Parts: sequence; C-alpha cells; structure tokens
Amino acid sequence: MRNSDFPASLAKDFERFKRELPRDFPAHVRDTYGINLSARYLGEPLPHPIGKGSGQLSLNTGQLETDAEAGLAFVVLKTVIAQDAAGAQSMAAWAIRESKMKVERRGDSWTVTWKGRGWDRSFDDYLALVSAGWDLRRGGQLLAVPSVKYHLPRLDEPFRDEEYAFTTRALANAWGQSPLLLEKDFSPTLAGDRLADEKAQILRWLREVPQRIRAHGDVRLAMKLMNARFDDDFQCEMMDAASGADALVVFNRLFDRERGVAYGGAELSERNLRVLDIRRPPPPSAALRRPLSGTGNIHSGRLIVEYALCGCSSVQLHTFFQLPLEEYPATEGSRTQRALQVLIFDPRNGLIAVMLERERAGTLHRRNGELHFLDLCDPPGN
Ligand SMILES: Cc1cc2nc3c(=O)[nH]c(=O)nc-3n(C[C@H](O)[C@H](O)[C@H](O)COP(=O)(O)O)c2cc1C
Repeated sequence: MRNSDFPASLAKDFERFKRELPRDFPAHVRDTYGINLSARYLGEPLPHPIGKGSGQLSLNTGQLETDAEAGLAFVVLKTVIAQDAAGAQSMAAWAIRESKMKVERRGDSWTVTWKGRGWDRSFDDYLALVSAGWDLRRGGQLLAVPSVKYHLPRLDEPFRDEEYAFTTRALANAWGQSPLLLEKDFSPTLAGDRLADEKAQILRWLREVPQRIRAHGDVRLAMKLMNARFDDDFQCEMMDAASGADALVVFNRLFDRERGVAYGGAELSERNLRVLDIRRPPPPSAALRRPLSGTGNIHSGRLIVEYALCGCSSVQLHTFFQLPLEEYPATEGSRTQRALQVLIFDPRNGLIAVMLERERAGTLHRRNGELHFLDLCDPPGN
C-alpha cells in the first residue's frame, strides 16, 4: 500500500496515540473513519474485538483494572482446576506452580516458553477474582470470564460429576447473574499428555463435557479447543463434536513433545487459519455457523482480519501483551494500551488500515455510511 492510500488522520492518530490512547477509542474510530468496531464474544456485545486470552496476565485484580483502564474489550481469567467439595482435583497435575516465563523470538513472531499450567492458588482466591471481575463488568468497564479445566476421564471411566457440580455451582454464585459465562479449557499440555493419545477419547470429551457442566447451572459455554497431535481433518472433527458449546475458542497453542512445552508463533496461526478455512461454511449457510473466538499468534490488525474472515467475531491474545516494551511503537502507557495502539492504528497493518484497504478493493462495503467489523465474519446478505 502506498502512503497516500490511507487518510492523513490515521498517520496523525498513530503518532499522537503513542503517548496516550483514549480509553474510548472505538467512539473515536467511528467518528473519524466511519468504522464500527463492534464485536461479540460468547453472545455478549463488545466495543471492539480485542480481548486477552486466559493465562498469566489475568491472575489478579490489579491486572484486570489495568486492562479495564486501557479499554480492552474482555479478559479470560487464568484457568482454574476443578475440584469437589472436599478439595480433591482429578486434574491436580495441571495445578503446578512455575513463575518464570521466557518471551522468545520464533521466526518473525514471538512465543512464550513456560512450564506452568493452571491456577496454583486456592479455589477461594479464584472465586474472589471472579467476583472482582464481576464488579468491573457491572461498572461497564470490562467483561472478565472464568476458565476451568474439569475432570477428563479415559474412555472406560465415568466423569467425576462431583467436581463438575461443586466447581460450576461455586462459580455461578461468584458470578453476578444468570447465565454464568464460562470457558472450558482443553490445553496444549493436555494434547501432549497420554490422556489425549486416542481420538475417540477426545471426541467423547467434546461431546459430553457441555452437558456435564450444564447439569449444574445455567451456563453459556465457550470451549477452547486444543491443537491435538493429529491432522487437520481431526481438528475439524473436534469442532463438529463440540456442537454442544455456545462458542468455540480456536485453537490453543501447539505442543512440542521433545521439549515438553507449548509454543506459538507463525506455525500456530498458519495451522489455525488453515483449519478454520476448511471449516468455513459456504456463503448461504454462514449465518448458521457457531460463534468463534480466534486465538494464536495475533500480532497485527491484519491477522485479526484474517481470523475474522474465518468467522471469528472476537480475538484473544496473550503473547502480544508480553513483548519487551521497546517492541511497541508507543512510548507511554501500559502494555495493554501500547498493544491496542498498534493493533488498531498502525497505518499499514492496523485494523483500521486493513478495513479501509478492503473497502478500496471492493470486498467490504459501507452500510448506513459505516464499515462494520462484524461484516468481515458474517457478510450481510448471507
Ligand atoms: C504463559 C501462558 C499461559 C497460558 N495459560 C493458559 C491457561 O491457563 N488457560 C488457557 O485456556 N490458555 C492459556 N494460554 C493460552 C493463551 O490464552 C492463548 O490462547 C495462546 O497463547 C495463543 O495466543 P498467543 O499466540 O497470542 O499467545 C496460555 C498462554 C501462555 C503463553
């Protein structure tokens, strides 16, 4: 794209927002560019599509407040390991403590190397975080959704319903209203575990987990699917098997069995987008497809658009909120603000620039004078 192809105001905004991003930048984008960034996650309307994926960046109230202040659309809290009333956790191996994270280059992208797994503090502490998240939501500041790893049995074993019952009810109580919005995590370390060696076992989990959870509360459920160690066709089978969920988060990081660590980077977004492209329904049925939230190596507005074109009405980033400060063009503000500034306003690869580029190419059209982010996922007339 030539410099003259984007409005001068975009270059100006990019420069001035390096010092301070306005919290209500979606209103500014609408007024200045006629672009409506409204998005959706788990049936909830969002001011824009960018949220934070579950992990080490959503462990305490301070982190949530900083994200609310920055104008992030939503946050998924760190995954807690389900337990029964006596505190027993069949997935206890996932509740290990490990604080050191290493942010490393992987080709042109980044990955975070980390050996930890789920929430490692008490379940009561987690409930307190859910309640604090609810307060921010009530104040209209931030949607903060809990995430759980529940018991997953072998094919010949029953589900441990006591863990599903206790954990779901406790989270529903801590959450302010019905329905409880919840993510169920099938993590990359699970993909690397012997538990996930058999396809039939994984498909059974995906089919049965939604009803196991719903038996204990009014839940709107997103299932975060792993990248299993099988081929793309199996990845599609997993999406079909998870039809009991209200939304899918697609797809968690890859697993390097030799090093015993999960990883991201370009390989992750390439695989995710390849599978989502296979799964993309032909236009007449597009409106019928299940809501998707994209995750994996999203580090530009251009990648947000690629996930949106595959049906993702929101995106969840983790690694991009963890880069060394000098990697962001912005010079002031929290990492979240600096990340949002470049994701939205970068004059070449930011969300505004790429939506305007599509308008010029005739692949995105104004409705009532506005370009709509959601039209990328679900073009009108379908
Ligand atoms: C250090 C770290 C911890 C994570 N912990 C969780 C977790 O507890 N639950 C979960 O569902 N995803 C977890 N994730 C996955 C992220 O939420 C995200 O989906 C994934 O890293 C892909 O996005 P990215 O390429 O932007 O990092 C974690 C990722 C990282 C890097």
